[in-house]
Amino acid sequence: MAVLVTGGAGFIGSHTVVELIEANREVIIIDNFSNSKPEVLNRIEKITGKRPKLYACDLLDLEATRKVFAENEIDSVIHFAGLKAVGESCAQPLRYYSHNFDATFNLIRAMVEYGVGTIVFSSSATVYGSPKTVPIREDFPLSTTNPYGETKLVIERMLKDMCDAGELKSVSILRYFNPIGAHESGLIGEDPKGVPNNLLPYISQTAIGKRDKLHVFGDDYPTHDGTGVRDYIHVVDLAQAHLAALDRAMAVTGTEYYNVGTGVGYSVLDIVKAFEKASGKKVPYVIDPRRPGDIAECYADPTLAREKLGWSAKFDIERMCKDADRWQTMNPDGYTD
Ligand code: UD1
Repeated sequence: MAVLVTGGAGFIGSHTVVELIEANREVIIIDNFSNSKPEVLNRIEKITGKRPKLYACDLLDLEATRKVFAENEIDSVIHFAGLKAVGESCAQPLRYYSHNFDATFNLIRAMVEYGVGTIVFSSSATVYGSPKTVPIREDFPLSTTNPYGETKLVIERMLKDMCDAGELKSVSILRYFNPIGAHESGLIGEDPKGVPNNLLPYISQTAIGKRDKLHVFGDDYPTHDGTGVRDYIHVVDLAQAHLAALDRAMAVTGTEYYNVGTGVGYSVLDIVKAFEKASGKKVPYVIDPRRPGDIAECYADPTLAREKLGWSAKFDIERMCKDADRWQTMNPDGYTD
């Protein structure tokens, strides 16, 4: 039996595929390469010695999606595929709502038709909106501040409704904090299109001279140094959380929610210092005004994942920065096909 990984060529998807293959799972990938490159498959093969079966198709194509289920013995799904840039989602809400919802509807429709009842869904800490306190627990109130976050929250609710009604057997919702780092081989990593929105790719591109300087968005937050605090998690730790969640989802019924973070918050300037130390490279920066929509502090209480999934993060911030730097240095222009 195989696990279907949607968006398996993306940043988190590709790292999860590597961990799945190394755990001897059969993996099938669906990816439309809208934000990833086919070269990722060669890299996965280089790392693991195995090439996962790929369907280069779009979940928006229901017939193509059905065909993947018809042609394979699939018993579970990890659903990463979706548009994920917050700023873009505010500028193009229709595109975000229609894409993320339609892709998920088609996937779930095909799952129900083919009797596949287990899904691990890629959600985000963005569903906690602006939390009143930190660390954040899974039972905190939910709200969103942008269309991207809204798609995550609505899909969470839709999956739960289907599970409550018995249309799905088991739903595991993973709420990621800030995934960074890369596989230690330096062969796979984060490859944002154009100017990075997220902090780590911006820092690593600045460190190798692709960008002049980092723009730190605000130094007047109520944090230890005034810059925003986040819970950065190594993407390999995050990938391993998916394996733990998948195993549990196969064994239980119902909907479960897990924070996937380290439980430790670092500020933007903490990260700049950690990156400089780990890489031996300078990261010049300037302080700019706050970025609209940003919050001061966001970090997880990861207790539930430890207790129920037997999972906790292993890699520290220095290792995250080292691996991110290795990937960026070995692949200054990302995946070039
Ligand atoms: C962002 C999204 C979040 C999404 C996540 C996915 C926003 C408001 N939130 O989280 O919904 O789930 O990415 O990875 O976009 N920073 C700088 N300079 C930069 C970039 C970032 O100072 O060039 C700061 C930010 O102000 C923040 C921290 O670095 O304090 C982390 O930012 P980022 O990597 O964009 O992640 P989030 O905003 O936490």
